[in-house]
Amino acid sequence: MGNKAGGGFPPGTVPLDFNGLKLSSLEFLMASKKGKGKSKSNQSGSPPHNGGDGNQSGRTGHQAAADQSDEVAIDATRDVSSYSGAGVNAPAGESSIRGDQVDVKRRRMLVSGASVVGGLGAVALVAPMVASMSPSEKAKAAGAPVEADISKLEPGQRLTVEWRGKPVWILNRTPDALGSLETLTDSLSDPSSEVDQQPEYARNETRSIKPEILVMVGICTHLGCSPTYRPEVAAADLGADWLGGFFCPCHGSRFDFAGRVYAGMPAPTNLEVPPHKYLSETVILVGVDSEEGVAA
Ligand code: FES
Repeated sequence: MGNKAGGGFPPGTVPLDFNGLKLSSLEFLMASKKGKGKSKSNQSGSPPHNGGDGNQSGRTGHQAAADQSDEVAIDATRDVSSYSGAGVNAPAGESSIRGDQVDVKRRRMLVSGASVVGGLGAVALVAPMVASMSPSEKAKAAGAPVEADISKLEPGQRLTVEWRGKPVWILNRTPDALGSLETLTDSLSDPSSEVDQQPEYARNETRSIKPEILVMVGICTHLGCSPTYRPEVAAADLGADWLGGFFCPCHGSRFDFAGRVYAGMPAPTNLEVPPHKYLSETVILVGVDSEEGVAA
């Protein structure tokens, strides 16, 4: 000790005595510069080294300064990481790093989810529009010709089929009903069916292909009501001169057994005879003309 305290110091340095601990002035300056956190070193549990020779004291001072320097560096890293959230090398900042990583992942997931939902929504909006642009099977079926089996249709009975969304009546007229047609000529608005409300092959007194079978659209030509079938002669609500036919209760229009409108009625024209033809003696195809093919 005496050697280092007396002649062991480099020339030009002044030995300093700190309560028996001798340090050169240069070592003291280095230790003082690095070891500003002496109190922190004490907090870490390292006992102060007040004894030993000068060499030990010098190493102890360097070690203490180095330990304190590491502590400060770690603390600084923690502080910076906690504030910046981007300290890749700071263990203490991992929690904040994970938080940012989770936020980024969540943000990406939300953006991706929103994109998928938006895409599905666009498809959901566009798909019905595209579908509506093409005719559906139902629409095609609604415009297709309709077959009607009249094999069981007795005289006086009426059969109704739907064609293009409209009721089509098929009436098996009795001899009396056919006979009444001849007597009403002067009471009708258009007895010869001059207005185009029937195909040419139905422009006759019975307005039909076969005299006893009437095929007719059951919609009033006034405002579109569906007239009622009133075959009874001199019905109480229709008067003693009623010979049977069709009556529209909406505004009182009257039609005979051929769908011809009485004069002075709200309905302006006779009822419509649709295109039709016979596939056999007992099967009628409604919607197809006898001569011209499928109706326009
Ligand atoms: S709708 Fe038939 S008379 Fe008016």
